[in-house]
Amino acid sequence: MPDPSPNWRHALIDALPKAELHLHIEGSLEPEMLFALARRNGVAIPFASVEAVRAAYSFTNLQDFLDIYYQGMGVLLTRQDFFDLTLAYLTRAKADNVRHVEIFFDPQGHTERGVAFGTAADGILDALAEGEARLGITSGLILCFLRHLDEESALATLNEAGPWLGRIAGVGLDSSELGHPPAKFARVFAAARGLGLKLVAHAGEEGPPPYVTEALDVLGVDRIDHGNRALEDPALVARIVSEAITLTVCPLSNLKLCVIPGLALSPVKRMLDLGIRATINSDDPAYFGGYVGANYRAVADALELSADEIVTLARNSFAGSFLSEEARARHIAEIEAIAAAFA
Ligand code: HPA
Ligand code: ZN
Repeated sequence: MPDPSPNWRHALIDALPKAELHLHIEGSLEPEMLFALARRNGVAIPFASVEAVRAAYSFTNLQDFLDIYYQGMGVLLTRQDFFDLTLAYLTRAKADNVRHVEIFFDPQGHTERGVAFGTAADGILDALAEGEARLGITSGLILCFLRHLDEESALATLNEAGPWLGRIAGVGLDSSELGHPPAKFARVFAAARGLGLKLVAHAGEEGPPPYVTEALDVLGVDRIDHGNRALEDPALVARIVSEAITLTVCPLSNLKLCVIPGLALSPVKRMLDLGIRATINSDDPAYFGGYVGANYRAVADALELSADEIVTLARNSFAGSFLSEEARARHIAEIEAIAAAFA
């Protein structure tokens, strides 16, 4: 039986190795770093203090957040900026016992401001290499296309990524979901598949269940980011279960973007009950109030998750990753040993 003390869930969460599969690196830009980089780069920001920035982080929907997220990334100009941002994230992840990360970046959010693709990619990749050497965190980098832009722009971005593709694990699809269905990006995802890249897409965060189906059928994604609204369609749920499709759920993000009215209504427990391979992730932790450990703790407390359910979430994070079968098995064996010791 678990330790009956009130924090047994937190102790278990801390002890479990975890992978994070849904993290926008630009969304890990903490207000303190926003200020430091604005000063370092001579970029004007419309905030007088770190407190004023935090106070502005109040959102009623995804677009509300995106407007401030794109404004925030305007302070990222140099390779060093992207390096510092990414290493700061990895340091936070290490504190949460994260062993593997698959992180997104939004190159179009940088190239449209005149920051070269390679400035962002090289800074992030340098830090990911350092994170593996110094912190023991393995990683994959996922290039996200901005879905509010057209497919031509996405195709040009994939082309620009050519020299870096050997160090890019896959492509994803993010930004404003409603009105921008996955099928808009059918050709660029087909091209990415042809290049041997993994494929993921945000779907069902605000968009309806058919967007999830389209991401699976038209884009052929390996994983769905968010996927909350898939639960509205029983046939889609049955398919997600039978095909063992991973959903990268982001509880604090869902709360802050009003996708759910309270954490007690997070879909995580329902997904586990249905047999869906759900995972816990932080999405944009600097904006939503917590890194991956905080997301596990919040959802475990609010949903009163059992020890088995918490262990399943950690196991799912590796099972749903793009690690080799051998690496996945090694991490999962460690999880099983911790679960056995905890029981
Ligand atoms: N949804 C869509 N696009 C995003 C998000 C998100 O939660 N975070 C950063 N870009
Ligand atoms: Zn996201």
